[in-house]
Amino acid sequence: MSESATKKILLSGSRPTGRQHLGNYVGALAQWLELQDECDCLFMIADWHALTNNYNDTSVLPENIRNQVIDWLAVGLDPAKATIFVQSAIKEHAELALLLGMFTPLGLVERSTSWKDAVVEQQNDELRTYGFLGYPVLQAADILIYQAHIVPVGKDQVEHIEKAQDLAQKVNVRYGEVFRVPQWRLGKSAVLLGNDGRKMSKSYGNCIYLSETPEEVWEKVRVMMTDPARVRKTDPGDPEKCLVWTYHKVFTPEERHAEIVENCTGAKWGCIQCKRVLDDALKAHFGPARERRAALEANPDQWKDVLTEGNKKARERAQATMEVVREKLHLFEDGK
Ligand code: TRP
Ligand code: SF4
Repeated sequence: MSESATKKILLSGSRPTGRQHLGNYVGALAQWLELQDECDCLFMIADWHALTNNYNDTSVLPENIRNQVIDWLAVGLDPAKATIFVQSAIKEHAELALLLGMFTPLGLVERSTSWKDAVVEQQNDELRTYGFLGYPVLQAADILIYQAHIVPVGKDQVEHIEKAQDLAQKVNVRYGEVFRVPQWRLGKSAVLLGNDGRKMSKSYGNCIYLSETPEEVWEKVRVMMTDPARVRKTDPGDPEKCLVWTYHKVFTPEERHAEIVENCTGAKWGCIQCKRVLDDALKAHFGPARERRAALEANPDQWKDVLTEGNKKARERAQATMEVVREKLHLFEDGK
């Protein structure tokens, strides 16, 4: 058996939000980097999903897709190991979503948290659409079409994977083993907050982006919130009350942790010194990514070639599943 045949199939993806920040890195990308060695990985830009709640102005999509793919490649997602592709390039996702829709009781989609929050609670009529209601059905199609064993996701996405499981089982019960029933795997959620202490989010303007220069990153680290009790250098601090410490725990080598705690609680150094240590750690951690980014920028078509290649591989696999699906569902096959 070939190596890839023995590896578990893993699919994950995210909507094209564009420039990736440290929250995206710690929450998803860092795990994907490990997983690409262990599993047969497919990483998808879910551009149709981006349309479900943002259909009025789609003009940012091309740029967001480009920036997102470049960020993924820069941190080390490797097209030689993983299939990196764009949802809308694989039309079979739409075909399967349509078919799964036939099996989808309204209750299954109306129960989803995003629908209940946006449409029922907040009465957002812009989102009272067939497409937004169908979000979990499209997501189930994304997963089932690759016969994925594992889907690494954040907590908020687990319910979507459960719906994919329900739909797979429902089809399998009637038509035989059409789909593999996927399992979800929980990633880390919201480990890093924005530099103002709120959730790291583009809309708050508090993100540190992977594409920023060391100088830009330092400017954000420099003004990062610290333990409010430390007004002067002579005031002892408590790392557990400090945002900088949460970053140290992720990026600064463990052997320096004791020293940081001691200098903080003993009021032996100022917060700026402490932030310099973090800044150095960030520079070391993202040095290789900066080199890869420079290479990608020097070769401006490379990201497109990566997608073309990834789309081709994904398409072959999606088509193979759809042939089985059509056959098992007794669908019309032209010329047969
Ligand atoms: N809904 C996911 C998100 O917003 C993106 C996504 C679309 C996805 N299809 C998927 C994630 C399939 C995992 C598997 O992050
Ligand atoms: Fe935070 Fe470091 Fe200042 Fe302590 S010394 S409050 S850990 S920045």
